Amino acid sequence: MSEIVIPHDLIDALRGAKSVVVLTGAGVSAESGVPTFRDAQTGLWAKFDPQELATREAFERNPKMVWEWYAYRRELTARAEPNAGHYALAELEGRASNFTLVTQNIDGLHQRAGSRNMLELHGNIHRNKCFQEDVRISRWIDSGEEPPRCPRCNSYLRPDVVWFGEMLPPVELDEAFRAAVECDVFLSIGTSGVVEPAASLPFIALQKGAIVIEVNPDATPLSNAATFRLAGPSGLVMPKLVEAVRHK
Ligand code: OAD
Repeated sequence: MSEIVIPHDLIDALRGAKSVVVLTGAGVSAESGVPTFRDAQTGLWAKFDPQELATREAFERNPKMVWEWYAYRRELTARAEPNAGHYALAELEGRASNFTLVTQNIDGLHQRAGSRNMLELHGNIHRNKCFQEDVRISRWIDSGEEPPRCPRCNSYLRPDVVWFGEMLPPVELDEAFRAAVECDVFLSIGTSGVVEPAASLPFIALQKGAIVIEVNPDATPLSNAATFRLAGPSGLVMPKLVEAVRHK
C-alpha cells in the first residue's frame, strides 16, 4: 500500500468547514471483520441469494430462516469491535462545528465508537419491530418461538432494517438530503456508491459546491467526480486525516 498523503488543502477545507457530512458504507466495518455486501458474496452470502433473506417476501415465505440469519449476523456484529476508522469519525464529529453521520450500515459500530449525530438510512440490526404494525419493539415474552411474537398484536417480530424493495425511513432520508445540500465538506467512506438513494448524496453536495472527499481502496462511480480521492482502507486513512486536522 503506497503511503497515504493527506493534501494540505483538504485539511484546510476540513478545518474551515461550517458543516461536515459523512456517508459511510460496509467498507468502514470491513476492518472490524464484518463482511461487506460485495465481498460478502463469497462470505456468509455465498450460501444464500440475498433475495432469499433480505425481503418481505422471503420473510413471509420463511420467517424462521430469515430471523435466524439476522440473529446470526446480530451475533457476528455484537462480537465485532469498532475499528480505528469508526473512532476517527467520532473524534472528527467532536471537532466539527456541525457534523452529520449518514450511514448505510446496520451494525451499530458507529454508536459504539462514540458517534452521536447519526442518520441510519438502512436501520439497525440490533433493533426489532412488529412485522404488521411497523413499530419498534424492544421487549417481548420469549416463548422460544422464532421469530418471537409482537406483545401488542401477536404477529411476528422482524429486524428493524430496510429490506430490498422497501422504502427508506422518510425522516432520516429527508434529513440526509438536507444535510448534503447544506454542507461545505462531504466525505463518502467505504461505500460502493451503487445503491440509491444514498449514492446520490455526494453528487448533491458536489452540485451545491461542497468539497467531496472519497475514502475507498477501490474506485467507485464517485471517484472521478470527487474533489479528493484517498485510495486506502478507512481504518488507516481516517486516523491520518484526523491527526492532520488535529495538528495542522
Ligand atoms: P458494498 O459492499 O457495496 O461496498 C463496500 C465498499 O467498501 C466497496 O466499494 C469496497 O471497495 C469498500 N471497502 C472495502 N474495504 C474497505 C475498507 N477497509 N475501507 C474503506 N472502504 C472499503 O457496501 P455498501 O456500499 O455499504 O443495502 O452497500 C450499500 C448497500 O447495499 C447496503 O447498505 C445494503 C446493500 O444492498 C441494504 O441492505 C438496503
